[in-house]
Amino acid sequence: MKTIAVLTSGGDAPGMNAAIRAVVRMAIYKGIRVMGVQRGYHGLINGEILDMDRHSVSDIIHRGGTILRTARCEEFKTEAGRKKAVNVLRVFGVDGLVVIGGDGSFAGAQLLSEMGIATVGIPGTIDNDLPYTEYTLGFDTALNTVLDAINKIRDTSSSHERISVVEVMGRNCGDIALYSGIGGGAESVIIPEIGYEIDALCKTIFEGKLRGKMHNLIILAEGVGGATELAKQIEDITGIESRATVLGHIQRGGSPSSFDRILASKMGVAAVEVLIAGRSGRVIGMVDGKIIDEDINEALAIPRKFNDKLYDISKILSY
Ligand code: ADP
Ligand code: F6P
Repeated sequence: MKTIAVLTSGGDAPGMNAAIRAVVRMAIYKGIRVMGVQRGYHGLINGEILDMDRHSVSDIIHRGGTILRTARCEEFKTEAGRKKAVNVLRVFGVDGLVVIGGDGSFAGAQLLSEMGIATVGIPGTIDNDLPYTEYTLGFDTALNTVLDAINKIRDTSSSHERISVVEVMGRNCGDIALYSGIGGGAESVIIPEIGYEIDALCKTIFEGKLRGKMHNLIILAEGVGGATELAKQIEDITGIESRATVLGHIQRGGSPSSFDRILASKMGVAAVEVLIAGRSGRVIGMVDGKIIDEDINEALAIPRKFNDKLYDISKILSY
């Protein structure tokens, strides 16, 4: 392994910069030349590759986003696109590639591995939707951002004795909603894994009011529906004033939490170790608190196990 490259792909996530830094510094420490690919697979196909040194990653550990930029690239999903990418990697003399992204980016990395480029993935997505790992980079920071917002919404919701529906990210995975709902003391959490029934939801709201609840905070994962429509529906049925807040991309930015910075640092180092050991088609993860690496296909095939226990906790504690 003489030259490795690193790229970020798919939706950005806080902690990606800390992971890039770890990959670059670990590679240099091991005497390996390291390059940065800009704009994910799009930049790979188009030869947007630059040499990196230890100063290229100075002053970024605390920054959200990704200094390498990110992209979604349809061309890379075609065989012709991937052939271009492999040729570019050969032209630049790259033997190994670190891909920081989510499951789509990992699927791409696996295909590159089958074409003879050693690849390793680092899970970077706020969604925490990769079942092979306990945490993905950015999830913890996004949760803290959501909690900060919930705390503020709770103040005004309580003063006005209103219902607040807060829409958070998560199309197929309700982890952001579930964890922030528990951490923020929400009355209800609505997630794609479970769904909801409007009558049961409204009954809970009425019962809460009878028990003296000053406000009602509902966290809704975007994959289930829109907050504005739900708030209106609730107001029509209950007669209680309701407001909707869509947190949107605020959840994707911001300085990474200490947890994400440290996880990114460990994962970046582990990714370079995997390449040095001559392994390919692997992804880095965390299992039982320990950093592991796993075959990409096997990792992507692991079914998502819904955390019933956590969901029950959210229900019990919101009573
Ligand atoms: P994420 O990596 O966050 O899941 P996407 O699913 O948007 O984000 O994937 C990011 C990029 O990875 C895509 O734009 C595409 O270039 C590449 N990709 C996704 N799925 C595949 C696939 N099945 N085969 C090859 N490349 C893929
Ligand atoms: O996968 C990360 C994520 O932030 C999802 O939670 C969200 O649904 C999606 O990306 C938004 O993507 P875009 O970058 O297209 O706005």
